[in-house]
Amino acid sequence: MTQIDYSQKIPNNVDLSSDKRLQRALEKWQPNYIDWWKSVGPTDFNENEVYLRTAVSVDRDGWAHFGYVKMPEYRWGIFLTPREGEKKIGFGDHMGEDAWEQVPGEYRNWLRRLIVTQGDTEPASVEQQRLLGHTAPSLYDMRNLFQVNVEEGRHLWAMVYLLHSYFGRDGREEADELLERRSGNPDHPRILTTFNEPCEDWLSFFCFTMFTDRDGKYQLLSLAESGFDPLARTCQFMLTEEAHHMFVGQTGVARTIQRTCELLNEHDGKDVREYGAIPLELIQRYVNFWSSSSYDLFGAEVSSNSANFFRAGLKGRAYEEKQGDHRALDQVFDMEMWDDGKLTKEEVPLRNAMNEVLREQYLEDCLKGVEYWNRVCERAGIDFRFTLPHRRFHRQIGMYSQGFFDPAGNPIDEATYEARKADWLPSAEDRAYVQSLMKPERRPGHFASWIAPPAKGINGQPVELEYVKLARN
Ligand SMILES: [Fe+2]
Ligand SMILES: [Fe+2]
Repeated sequence: MTQIDYSQKIPNNVDLSSDKRLQRALEKWQPNYIDWWKSVGPTDFNENEVYLRTAVSVDRDGWAHFGYVKMPEYRWGIFLTPREGEKKIGFGDHMGEDAWEQVPGEYRNWLRRLIVTQGDTEPASVEQQRLLGHTAPSLYDMRNLFQVNVEEGRHLWAMVYLLHSYFGRDGREEADELLERRSGNPDHPRILTTFNEPCEDWLSFFCFTMFTDRDGKYQLLSLAESGFDPLARTCQFMLTEEAHHMFVGQTGVARTIQRTCELLNEHDGKDVREYGAIPLELIQRYVNFWSSSSYDLFGAEVSSNSANFFRAGLKGRAYEEKQGDHRALDQVFDMEMWDDGKLTKEEVPLRNAMNEVLREQYLEDCLKGVEYWNRVCERAGIDFRFTLPHRRFHRQIGMYSQGFFDPAGNPIDEATYEARKADWLPSAEDRAYVQSLMKPERRPGHFASWIAPPAKGINGQPVELEYVKLARN
């Protein structure tokens, strides 16, 4: 087992101490990172002890240590899944050649762009979620929020390590800029739209971790296939942590649904708002908003960038080994086109459809989460069933952004869309109502009115554990 040496300033399993120049560059970046955390992270909770897991090894079993830590003292480290034997490139034009240990010169810019785009999402989400600690529905949930936050911070470290060690001076400049862009700042925004959307209530947070972190999972899965081996191994380890983020989202929404179902049963179908819960239709509108916004993160349906990244062996499909022809050279994809106000079918070269292939893999995964929510309704004997909006609904990027579609994906005219919008997407009133419920619950083992307790606590601990130690007056 490769244990991490925590006596070093930057815990790592990449033998950082053997590269003094790199170590110094990262040690120079580190205080800027801490400043960033203290100014735009969950700032008001920096002095509180939080029951957190910290990565201490890359072993499948026992990779994490749980204990109380103040967040600014969290040991953000650099961990790569170790290399196993000779690694070959698994797809694209270089298939079968040795994987790259150094950046291939011809692909340097593309590779840097992929790493920077991934890296930018990590601090962005911490910024989006920075005030949620104040309104946590329980200490258990507050702890989960902070766990997600510190791990997104570690994912930033992972990308910064790659930029510093493989991209020289422009890599260091990009690493600095990752701390300079700000989510939602009109002059200096984060790169991707979803990461500039405000995330100001806990239903948004749960939808975000369900849908947007799951986009992250699929991006990481496709980068974990990369022919640039340090990137592949970095992403493999990030996926280990990412699973918990999606757990937080999926179960957070499920517990919200469960609470509503309980109240519907108790009060014979009356408006649950009277009892401080969230109507199922309103939850569906939040689901529609955050899922469709996350669909955009995969990019345009037909994309020469995606073809280039695949051809070059930089970004594959998720679970590439399960795909048929890894060159994807003479294959076509049956693409549904939105052309001049009509849906038509067209055969697109498969390499140009890689964004859509990944989005389809993602949608399948999302659907399982929605089915899980429906089982909550089913068990409670409530008729309502959640649906995942169609990939054409409410898109801002790609060809479907040129038209108007209902959540089932049927084309409609703009007037109909505008008239029905409030049924499909959260209205200002919905958001205000959800916001009105965001009252903190800070007694261990207690939960806010709108959410059910979890089935069990974290790491075998009781649900009543004081997961965050808040100062008491
Ligand atoms: Fe992440
Ligand atoms: Fe995440």
